[in-house]
Amino acid sequence: MKDNDTIQLTLENLESPPITHGTVILNKEKFIEVLVEPNILQDLNSIKKRTSMLKDIITEPKKDTKGIVNIDANGDTVSLRKDVLISEFDQILESQTIERAKYYLERLENGIQKIKTSKINDINILRWKEYDEIITDSLWIIPERDKTGKHNGFYHGNFIPQIPHQLILRYTKKNEIVFDPFLGSGTTAYEAESLNRNFIGIDIQKKLVDFVGKNVEPKNNFSDLIAGDSTKIETFEKVKEVLKNHKKKNVQLAILHPPYADIIKFSDLKDDLSNAKSLKEFLEKFAEVLENSIEILENVRYLAIVIGDKYTAGEWIPLGFYCMNEAQKLGLTLKSIIIKNMAGNRAKQNKERIWRYRALSSDYYIFKHEYILIFKK
Ligand SMILES: C[S@@+](CC[C@H](N)C(=O)[O-])C[C@H]1O[C@@H](n2cnc3c(N)ncnc32)[C@H](O)[C@@H]1O
Repeated sequence: MKDNDTIQLTLENLESPPITHGTVILNKEKFIEVLVEPNILQDLNSIKKRTSMLKDIITEPKKDTKGIVNIDANGDTVSLRKDVLISEFDQILESQTIERAKYYLERLENGIQKIKTSKINDINILRWKEYDEIITDSLWIIPERDKTGKHNGFYHGNFIPQIPHQLILRYTKKNEIVFDPFLGSGTTAYEAESLNRNFIGIDIQKKLVDFVGKNVEPKNNFSDLIAGDSTKIETFEKVKEVLKNHKKKNVQLAILHPPYADIIKFSDLKDDLSNAKSLKEFLEKFAEVLENSIEILENVRYLAIVIGDKYTAGEWIPLGFYCMNEAQKLGLTLKSIIIKNMAGNRAKQNKERIWRYRALSSDYYIFKHEYILIFKK
């Protein structure tokens, strides 16, 4: 390996949807051979020269490039994010000592050769820089609802698909089971489907279950929907039956998005949580759903509650904290309190001036956030 010409570059189109950044496809073995060739590891200058050469190839491939840089992409290949690879090269180039440079080289080599994931998701921690899609802060400002795929946002009281999307990526592996006892319009079901997870959902409104059932069509996974009351043990007997049919015992992630007490009345059914006659009754029923969900959740796995507060008779009712309390009483460990902005739809935005006038002429603040509470069993 002497100069650029001996690294063969073939270039392909960058159209496939999952690739959002420039991608570099490498023949693993050949790339490693060039990257850590023993005779260049003797001194810092040679390491930097080789690194700089590789960086040039990746940054300025032949003129006809359309995005993907393909370095001899035969045999066992790996695709890397171009910007991340360049930043790895830059770290090597900025190293002051050979030890540092070798450390970065080794890290890069490991990221290419090895996969290291935890027991709860598929994030390859050796390539952690490539996961900037996954939010790790406790403040989620999401300006717009994802309206792609099957998400159309018709259901008043649904949540934005980004919520289950983030939770599923962070807390499950492919082909594990996501569970949602307040299915609604199926946002979690569709997200589970597109991320290749299995899904079990319940809603008290049969018409919703039927509607979502018609729309889900997972290819290599299952998506089983049950019409029933999630406070009832009998409904969970059906969930257990579904699990048994698939030769499974537990679910790996539960996402609970209950009615925010009576803010939106979802149906006339008396067991609908939005028809609870008091806060006490709402919390009791919610605790029942929690208890049932915890029972089928695998140990040391995660449960998320998505909820907002409400205002009644001149008083802020911290539904989020009350629900958090119920989960803690049932023995779950609180892992995070995430605050998510509530952007509101266009109709709501038109009303904003009225609300602002009312708030200014009174003593309260306007709801702009809701909670995503993360617990571990
Ligand atoms: C806040 S919505 C969930 C929305 C859902 N995340 C979505 O994006 O469409 C709450 C749902 O819980 C359902 N629900 C209320 N009480 C229930 C109960 N006891 N058992 C099962 N579902 C219930 C309602 O019918 C409603 O669809």
